[in-house]
Amino acid sequence: MNSPIILGIESSCDETAASIVTRDKNGCAKILSSIVWSQTAHHAPFGGVVPELAARAHVEVIGEVVHRAFHDADLIPTQISGVAATAGPGLIGGLVVGLVHGKAMAASLNVPFMAINHLEGHALTPRLTDNQSYPYLLLLVSGGHTQILCIESLGVYHRLGSTLDDAVGEAFDKTAKLLGLGYPGGVEVEKHAKNGDATRFTFPKPLTGDKSCNFSFAGLKSAVRMLAEKHQPITEQTICDICASFQETVCSVLAIRVERAIIEFRKLYPHVQNIPIAVAGGVAANAAISATLSQLTDKNNATLYAPPLSLCGDNAAMIAYAGLERFENNKFDSLLETVHPRWPLDNFAPKLPYAGVKA
Ligand code: KG4
Ligand code: ZN
Repeated sequence: MNSPIILGIESSCDETAASIVTRDKNGCAKILSSIVWSQTAHHAPFGGVVPELAARAHVEVIGEVVHRAFHDADLIPTQISGVAATAGPGLIGGLVVGLVHGKAMAASLNVPFMAINHLEGHALTPRLTDNQSYPYLLLLVSGGHTQILCIESLGVYHRLGSTLDDAVGEAFDKTAKLLGLGYPGGVEVEKHAKNGDATRFTFPKPLTGDKSCNFSFAGLKSAVRMLAEKHQPITEQTICDICASFQETVCSVLAIRVERAIIEFRKLYPHVQNIPIAVAGGVAANAAISATLSQLTDKNNATLYAPPLSLCGDNAAMIAYAGLERFENNKFDSLLETVHPRWPLDNFAPKLPYAGVKA
């Protein structure tokens, strides 16, 4: 039997993306096309994503982006088996654009529709790229989210920990903004850190003595602000040293939390000998973080799965893949499905107490 062919659409933040995914004859996922149209240039003058601008930009390009996904895959719409679109969490205007486009395509082609949680897309990326078997541990590090999850099976996700305030990508972005570097900030901070002395400044590591797997990055951002104010007029070398010290602190905090999560994972799944640890989200592109995680996995009888750079950030291949697994398991959604700007991946996880938590 031929594998299903799924169109995926992603528009939850500042990327308009479409992708077509299927399986090869060995059953491994195959990306037939993946188009990502980034709005970074629209938002750069404002130092962050402006929701209204984002929604308008999605409207302008979504048709063309989907058209190019079919063109690159050398397919026509009537050849697809189903449509998957991100329904949340994210910015409401952008979500509506992608979801309505996806539902309209599914209705006109008379194929099943799947409303995908954006975080599920990130969570299943190791299965898209490495055919990773369940269960595995996931460190999700993006601009909107910082979570550690056990990915047990399709739709069964246990959140072990989450940020109580800022996401780690947000901390990178805010650090860059405070230091007058460009947007998005993660890449700029990493670039400057390469020329900096990571031992020059010591930053706080909140919650790391705590027995949970939670994070807190807001204090780190305040510490950067105070340092930057103290060293005015700031030199290029001091900027590089702050970036290096900040990045080193983030690496250390992530390592402490992941080691804690490994202990929890072992309790839940004692039969798993070599723990697969996957990293996902835009911050996974950071080489210092990957190096830290790679050392940590070597030390803890675990194996690290890091997606290629093109699949670290937001993309529609991960949405199409989540749709593919849902299609194969007959998990379809109604065309009455609407957007969920806040949509936790683990509905049973205890509510987190602070206001900054987005999902
Ligand atoms: O997953 P993503 O593309 O979008 C969502 O937030 O869902 O992640 C974007 C985040 C931004 O905060 C960006 O600054 C960060 O990923 N990022 C990085 C790097 N590249 C992107 N952070 C640290 N180092 C990088 N090289
Ligand atoms: Zn994302």
